[in-house]
Amino acid sequence: MRIYDIIKKKRDGNELSTAEIEFFIKGYVDGSIKDYHAAALCMAIFYVGMTERETADLTLAMANSGDTVDLSQFGSLTADKHSTGGVGDKTTLIVAPIAASLGCIMAKMSGRGLGHTGGTIDKLDSIKGFNTQLSPKDFFEAVKKTGIAVVGQSGNLTPADKQLYALRDVTATVDSLPLIASSIMSKKLAAGAHTIVLDVKHGSGAFMKTPEDAEALAREMVKIGKNCGRNTSAVITNMDIPLGNNIGNSLEIKEAIEVLKGQGPEDLKTVCLALAAQIVSLSKSIDIETAKTLTRDSLENGKAFLKFKEWISAQGGNSQWIDNPQLFPVASIHHEIKASQSGFISHMDTEKIGISAVIAGAGRETKADTIDMSAGIVLKKKTGDSVNEGDIIAILHTNNKISVEGAEKKFLEAITISPNKPESKPLIYKII
Ligand code: URA
Repeated sequence: MRIYDIIKKKRDGNELSTAEIEFFIKGYVDGSIKDYHAAALCMAIFYVGMTERETADLTLAMANSGDTVDLSQFGSLTADKHSTGGVGDKTTLIVAPIAASLGCIMAKMSGRGLGHTGGTIDKLDSIKGFNTQLSPKDFFEAVKKTGIAVVGQSGNLTPADKQLYALRDVTATVDSLPLIASSIMSKKLAAGAHTIVLDVKHGSGAFMKTPEDAEALAREMVKIGKNCGRNTSAVITNMDIPLGNNIGNSLEIKEAIEVLKGQGPEDLKTVCLALAAQIVSLSKSIDIETAKTLTRDSLENGKAFLKFKEWISAQGGNSQWIDNPQLFPVASIHHEIKASQSGFISHMDTEKIGISAVIAGAGRETKADTIDMSAGIVLKKKTGDSVNEGDIIAILHTNNKISVEGAEKKFLEAITISPNKPESKPLIYKII
């Protein structure tokens, strides 16, 4: 077999065989197939697409390209959730304790922030003492103790995806449906959970801009998961507006604590309860209405909050910070961003809002950057709200005085104010 022939075959619109896809992934990981071959093949896939069978083969070849996590000691209640990425998306921090308080086993690997989107691992790192780099032994111990552990991706998990993702990032081949679906699902399959619930986002802050594109991606991923013997479902949610009000690492932990204490913004609560109900229903084989009642009860009766505290302590975090969120360091500058005119906020470009938070210090602009855990944005108004000129729309939190002007400019670019109230868009578009 020759990689040249495989590239040509795909370029000319043909379907690759399982053996050809396996040959490509194996060769790319062992170095016999070069970056330029892989880049050409990704571009051919970008234009020609892949059949369902090819996408499933690519996913499996990537999932098996390195180590896999064996969660079989925890039985069939292991569950994972994955978000395709967004701004203000702190759902794992709330969904995992709700599901674990009801007996699900959430042994999870999560990522760091990417571009304008935040990452769960960075958020957890803002809790004093919390260890996101547990050894495999300590990871399993934490899961046994509390039913939850969340760590950064370690070891040699899906090396094919690591290489391909980095390559796609610089060759304009990220936004290809089969490549995204196989990238995400290979990691989920390798991470070993029996139930996989996907939060597929659409809108200005998401990879998929329209609900229809998000649905196509969700259907593809659900098919792959089911074909691989995992309980899989997808909740398609709105990322045309940041989720909740707080953006930035410790600010998001504080908002998650509010929700776990029965307060916090309704949009965030709604998405978290929808995801948690899917996990509980699929992993425990109970009907969705019962799962909805159980998850809501767990949030309202404080069991989820207790589970959250147990989890944070088990990974070395200081639970006093959870009881007293005022202990989290606070940024020295709180800059008010005001409406430049009166009307209704008719649109928020969520990607730009994420970038504004990054400029304030909440994310990395280069790999080497250190995050300012207290930096970010607290929204005071969101899409659909009426504003008068001079009203505070948001408060920028930062320790870097020179970032204020740029962050405020980017934030204001993201906000459209119009005379008429916009139509509200559903928070949950579909569940698949
Ligand atoms: N997230 C991933 O893990 N992979 C992609 O290709 C896109 C988003």
